Amino acid sequence: MADLSTIFTGIRFENPFLLASAPPTESESNILRAYEAGWGGVVTKTIGLHPVVNVRGPKTKFLRADNGGSRLSMKKRLDTTLMASWNWELISDKPADWWVPRLEAIKKAWPNRVLVASIMAGSGTDKELHNWQILTEAVQDAGVDAIELNFSCPHMDRVDMGANVGKDKVLCSISTQAVKAVARVPVWVKLTPATADIVEEATATFLGGADAISSSNTFPALPIIDPETLDFEVNVDGYVSPGGLGGPAILPQSLAKMAQLTQAFPDREFSGLGGISGFDQALSYFLLGCGTVQVATAAMLDHAIGPNVIKALTAGMTELLDRNAGRGWTSLADFRGLRRGSIVPHSQIGRPDASDYHGGYDEEAEGYAVEPAAV
Ligand SMILES: Cc1cc2nc3c(=O)[nH]c(=O)nc-3n(C[C@H](O)[C@H](O)[C@H](O)COP(=O)(O)O)c2cc1C
Repeated sequence: MADLSTIFTGIRFENPFLLASAPPTESESNILRAYEAGWGGVVTKTIGLHPVVNVRGPKTKFLRADNGGSRLSMKKRLDTTLMASWNWELISDKPADWWVPRLEAIKKAWPNRVLVASIMAGSGTDKELHNWQILTEAVQDAGVDAIELNFSCPHMDRVDMGANVGKDKVLCSISTQAVKAVARVPVWVKLTPATADIVEEATATFLGGADAISSSNTFPALPIIDPETLDFEVNVDGYVSPGGLGGPAILPQSLAKMAQLTQAFPDREFSGLGGISGFDQALSYFLLGCGTVQVATAAMLDHAIGPNVIKALTAGMTELLDRNAGRGWTSLADFRGLRRGSIVPHSQIGRPDASDYHGGYDEEAEGYAVEPAAV
C-alpha cells in the first residue's frame, strides 16, 4: 500500500507537499483552504515585526510565450504557455501581532497538518539579531511546528536583510545561531540561489545549527522591455527594480542548486522548490535527496491555493509507488536520493574514447589549459 506520509526534521507530514511562503499562504482563510485541499503543510508568507508597504500597482506578473511563436510577454493574450512568474512583493504586509492569534487558530483547527512560520528580521546589530529571537518566540508560542528563516528575499535594499543575509556567510551563521538559541522547534533556512557557490552559505548555516535548508527562492530578474512603448513591462512611473523569477523557467537552475547541496551534505535534510507544478518536477527534487517539496507559482494560478496541484501531486506519487510496488517501494524513503550520485565532473561523462579528454588539464590534447600542479 502506498504511504505518502514522511518524517522531515522530526515532524510527521501526511504527504511531503507544502505550499511555499508566498501569496497562497498570506492569510488564515487561504491556509485553512489549503489544508482542506490536502496540502501536507504550509509555510506562511514571511512574517516580520513591522508592517511593510508594497509598490503601487501589480506585485506579481506572469511571463508567457506565444505557442508556435517567438514572443515572450507578460501581456494577457490567448494561445500562450506559462514560462515564469515575476514578482517584487515584499514580506507580509501584516506584522507578527496580526499573525500570532491567526497561527494559534489555524493550529487549533488542524492540529495534524504542518504549520511552518517563515520569519525575517535584520541581522546587522545585536538589537536586530534579538528581533529574530522575538519573532521566533512569538510564532513558536503560537504553536507552529517549525520555523523557516528567510535569507533569500531578493527585494531588500538593506544589506543585512533577506537575500543579502543569504549572500553573507557570517550573517548566515550568526542569524541562525541567534534563532537556535531560543528555538524549541526545528529551524529551516531558505537560502538565496543568487550566490556563486551555495554550498559555502549552506556550510555556514548548518554551522549555525540549522535543521534543514530550503532552496530555491526566486532568482533575481527584470521584466522585459516592451518593444512598442520602450518601457519595462512592469514599472512605476517608468522605474523598476530587480524582482524575483519563479515558475517553470527556474526548475533546471533550482535543481542545479539543490544537487550541489544534497551532494555536499548527503545526510542533511532539504526542502526543494522552484518550478514545481506537477509530480514529475517534484520527483526530480526527491531523486536528488529532498525530503519535502514546496510550491508557489503553480498554486497562485490554481484557485489561489492549488487544489488541483495538490491533487495531481498526491496522485502522481501514489501512481509511482504503485508502479514500483514490485521493487518493494512503499514510501518516499525508497526512492529519495536515488539520482544524487549521477552528477559528476564533466570529464567523467562518457566519451567515444575515455582517454580523449582530461577535464581541460592536458595542454597537448586540448591546447588551452595546463595542469595546475605542473605550473
Ligand atoms: C508573489 C510571490 C511572493 C513571494 N513571497 C515570498 C516570501 O514572502 N517569502 C519567501 O521565503 N519566499 C517568497 N516567495 C518565493 C517562493 O516561496 C518560492 O521560493 C519561489 O517562487 C519559487 O517557487 P515556484 O517556482 O513554485 O514559484 C514568493 C514568490 C512569489 C511568486
